[in-house]
Amino acid sequence: MSRRISIALLCIPALAALSYGAVFGVSENRLRDVERPPAFMSVAEADSATVAHGKHITRTRGCFGCHGQQLEGRVFDEWDWVDRAVAPNLARVARELDDATLEAAIRHGIGRDGRALWSMPSYNFAHLSDEDLSAMIAFLRSAPIVENDLPKPRLGLQARWWIVTGEEDHMAQWVMDVPALRTNLSDSLLKRGEYIAMTTCNECHGLDLRGDWLSGTPDLAVIAGYTEPAFRRLMKEGISMAGREDIPLMSMVARDRFANFTDEELAALRAFLSSLIDEPVPQDVSWR
Ligand code: HEC
Ligand code: HEC
Repeated sequence: MSRRISIALLCIPALAALSYGAVFGVSENRLRDVERPPAFMSVAEADSATVAHGKHITRTRGCFGCHGQQLEGRVFDEWDWVDRAVAPNLARVARELDDATLEAAIRHGIGRDGRALWSMPSYNFAHLSDEDLSAMIAFLRSAPIVENDLPKPRLGLQARWWIVTGEEDHMAQWVMDVPALRTNLSDSLLKRGEYIAMTTCNECHGLDLRGDWLSGTPDLAVIAGYTEPAFRRLMKEGISMAGREDIPLMSMVARDRFANFTDEELAALRAFLSSLIDEPVPQDVSWR
């Protein structure tokens, strides 16, 4: 082999390593380019009523679904766009981290190491009230720790490349894209319904609840066509108006999470979502 060719061949791995290093470096910089919010302090006493309320919030907002039914943590090896996401042991994490660090992760998408999170859907929790968040923290700290050996998470080259090209935002950015709650809702039932929907359904139905092209979820104004019994059946049993019992993802989250909503929460949710039929659908948003 001529000397020139062997030098060229030697260069290929060196170039590959350099490019990987560059993608890694730029993506790390982006993940670290976030600002921690002002320090949060829990507003709740950890009495039994608060802990019970916190458990209800934790259940209905889906923390058990990803962090495990005993909060023991879970590995998402099947999420190949991430490489390996690991939802940590939440009962343990809640005791290790202070209120401010927990709040930064849950409501702002910023992890304990000061980097933006990637897989944890903090955009869905951005509008959680101080009271509900505090009750949730009280519950998580009271939950028994179930030991579980978890591997280290890995953010793969694909995800890092998306961060570099701006094709996919990290979680702290997603949080900033969540529309504000409407302050001009004078009806307290609608206000309550908006709060529940914007901390529950916007995980999958678009940040403004009007549908998400990525996951193909419908505009929730469809609820205007649901009678009270049909809506209750969808929420409690995961069965659609047309009688579908296996709506992808939806039937599962309904049975695991929404079945726990109280009658009062369901009434507020249906009233607010039905009212969307009279509102224009915002255009020019990244998720549609
Ligand atoms: C869709 C799955 C999913 C849901 C739902 C979810 N999490 Fe997570 N969570 C994750 C993953 C994955 C991580 C690891 C960080 C990452 O990859 O973004 C994480 C990380 C965390 C962390 C640790 C952050 C750190 O810096 O170590 C906390 C705290 C947390 N989640 C709390 C919650 C709470 C509270 C809820 C419910 C309100 C919740 N999570 C719901 C997937 C989820
Ligand atoms: C974890 C993701 C997720 C969450 C959270 C979620 N949905 Fe869905 N939903 C879906 C998916 C996925 C579909 C099905 C899209 C399709 O047809 O393939 C769906 C479908 C629906 C449908 C149409 C059912 C049909 O086929 O007629 C309604 C109505 C609906 N969801 C209401 C809600 C409401 C109300 C909430 C909040 C309480 C909610 N969803 C929260 C994922 C979710």
